[in-house]
Amino acid sequence: MDYRTYIAERLPATGMEKGELAELIAVPPDPSMGDYALPCFKFAKILHKSPALIAEELAAQYPADDVVCGAEAAGGYVNFRIDRRAFATSFFRTFEGEERGAGYGSSEEGAGKTVCIDYSSVNIAKPFHIGHLSTTVLGAALYRIFKYLGYKVVGINHLGDYGTQFGKLISAYKKWGNREEVERGGIHAINDLYVRFNNEATEEMEREARENFRLIESGDGEANALFEWFKSLTMAYVGKIYDRLRVTFDSYAGERFYLDKMGPVIDELKEKGLLVESQGAQVVDLEAYGMPPFIVLRSDGASLYGTRDLAAAFYRKKTYNFEKCLYVVAYQQNLHFKQLFKVLELMGEDWAKDMVHVAYGMVSLEDGAMSTRKGKVVWLEDVIDRCVEKAEKVLEEKNPALENKADVAEKVGVGAVIFGALYNSKIKDIVFSYDKALNFDGETSVYVQYTCARCASVLEKAKSLPLGNKSAADLGGREFELAKALASFPDTVKAAAKNYEPSVIARWCVDTAQTFNKFYLDCPIAQAENADLRALRVHLTRAALSVLTRGLSLLGIGVPEKM
Ligand code: ARG
Repeated sequence: MDYRTYIAERLPATGMEKGELAELIAVPPDPSMGDYALPCFKFAKILHKSPALIAEELAAQYPADDVVCGAEAAGGYVNFRIDRRAFATSFFRTFEGEERGAGYGSSEEGAGKTVCIDYSSVNIAKPFHIGHLSTTVLGAALYRIFKYLGYKVVGINHLGDYGTQFGKLISAYKKWGNREEVERGGIHAINDLYVRFNNEATEEMEREARENFRLIESGDGEANALFEWFKSLTMAYVGKIYDRLRVTFDSYAGERFYLDKMGPVIDELKEKGLLVESQGAQVVDLEAYGMPPFIVLRSDGASLYGTRDLAAAFYRKKTYNFEKCLYVVAYQQNLHFKQLFKVLELMGEDWAKDMVHVAYGMVSLEDGAMSTRKGKVVWLEDVIDRCVEKAEKVLEEKNPALENKADVAEKVGVGAVIFGALYNSKIKDIVFSYDKALNFDGETSVYVQYTCARCASVLEKAKSLPLGNKSAADLGGREFELAKALASFPDTVKAAAKNYEPSVIARWCVDTAQTFNKFYLDCPIAQAENADLRALRVHLTRAALSVLTRGLSLLGIGVPEKM
């Protein structure tokens, strides 16, 4: 039962659309005030009355029934009360036979619609550093969330596989590299060569590098074989990280893929009179929109990152006919995407409005800033390894007898890295701290995982206890709170998709785990007053485990059986 929608649909007119109204309805911090509350401050302007008066009128007009049994005004809010009996009945029905992690909150709202998500988009032969964490885990979470809501999702890794840097790399390799060393060192060895080139390159080497780049472009066998080798080493390296983070893609069409697809788009720009010359370059003038020109071709005729993105946008529309095309890319590229979307709009493409830049903030480490400048790189792999190592130590202290410690540590450590990037609203800059991320009592994934393990152990113990009829027991305050928290999961998933904000689910996980733990402290199960009440509590525990597991898994985080 979606109570917010239920209430919104029955409220008298406020001048606000029902969907928006439903989102405004919140859960009051103190349950004694009511189960849901509608703040009336936003209506004051529309209705030209005080919020308090509006609240009174809305409460008086609200048609109470056996689902929402009361509405009361209090200081600018309308507080709604749910009928517990009716709620319990519908809650039991929802979770009847629910297996761990089954599809509660999934829906068909996306049926027949496609969402493209461009995320992670690694650069060949460059370090996969902590700056790539957010795009990777945010994109992957959005991927799972949209899938869960019934959309067809296309995950795209728009590889950075084109550019003069590959000419430099070939020069550096030929000068200082050797095959065994690079095979052994993989991407680290490649990166070292590239850094060395940037530190030591002479005029002569720069010239050579340009020539090597030209050779790649002209299809030269040796140059391309080297490039493909660097690419396969890079992909093998990031592939391992993707596996640990549970990240997958449907397409690896990178920048190179679009080289032969730019022509028609450039022609169209010309035909539409959008291409002008500026200092020898071909650009789209965006001055009228307060933006610098969008460069399509450089004065030497070469294409740019943006040109390839323009071709990619058309290709995606044609190939996938998307409803939305998301770009999960750091806010540093705000201007790039604003320009790109504007150019599409100027070309008369009505789907320009379906292009979304999902921007996010920077991640740095508590013990040293993230830097991609020469040599000083924080590799994502190292952050994950270190977090898993620390997780193992923490687990050792907490529970020395734990079986499968390495497996559990992997789930806890990787989970902490993912959760660290997803817990705050995406646009905020984040300072990642290993200790905070692994705090069992904090707002952390390990806290939620531990709560799941606690649920599992409660259920295990309950197997040998007599269980009565849960429907014959009354939902007390704590039971009701927990059931309500669980029942808000479907709305939470929808909100996460609507705002491209997986943090909504991360917060729901922490809040709900806290609600469960209050219930756990106050509501004994083995010592329950009677078997009916015990059955009710066991049922709630099973539901909590199931939905919390699902919440974490949408974020890409696994749940150990025991902790
Ligand atoms: N490889 C780029 C970078 O590291 C990100 C690409 C994002 N996707 C895109 N279609 N522009 O900055």
